[in-house]
Amino acid sequence: MLIRKLNIDERPPMGLLLLADPSRKIVEEYLQRGQCFVAESNDQVIGCYVLLETRPETVELVNIAVEEIFQGKGIGKKLVMNAIEVAKSKGYKTIELGTGNSSISQLALYQKCGFRITGVDIDFFTKHYTQDIFENGIQCRDMIRLSRYL
Ligand code: COA
Repeated sequence: MLIRKLNIDERPPMGLLLLADPSRKIVEEYLQRGQCFVAESNDQVIGCYVLLETRPETVELVNIAVEEIFQGKGIGKKLVMNAIEVAKSKGYKTIELGTGNSSISQLALYQKCGFRITGVDIDFFTKHYTQDIFENGIQCRDMIRLSRYL
């Protein structure tokens, strides 16, 4: 598996990006502001993430996703670790991300990759998304913020 930056003339993997965030509007805004990276296996895009500069020396990892049939095989962890290395090599000092209060496996993954919980954006999802989101039988209301020093 190879992880590389998406070329300017390539179409972003919209289906995959929407797995991580149901709002097309938000995904398109992230793509305009950030850089998209893809994981490829046998010429097929099976994973992606977007790195977004948010403040001086700080990037946010958004829209990380792995094709459903390839999930649970360590690819997500490789993508997170790759994002950390890319951010470090570009001179950033902090990498941040946010996930839903209901995203139990994502919270496990990010903490296994060295991220620490720094805060909670209360009602982020109820305010910014029109449809109700449920995962693991829990309503996704709040955004858990996590961060890791580089
Ligand atoms: N308790 C403890 N650890 C858990 C866990 C749980 N309930 N659920 C998952 N994990 C761990 C796994 O054990 C693994 O760690 P390990 O390698 O130390 O065993 C790690 O989390 C992640 O596994 P991995 O196989 O690398 O993840 P993945 O390839 O399935 O990718 C996502 C993870 C989130 C990118 C993928 O599931 C996905 O695309 N989901 C839909 C989109 C999405 O939710 N994106 C994130 C938005 S915030």
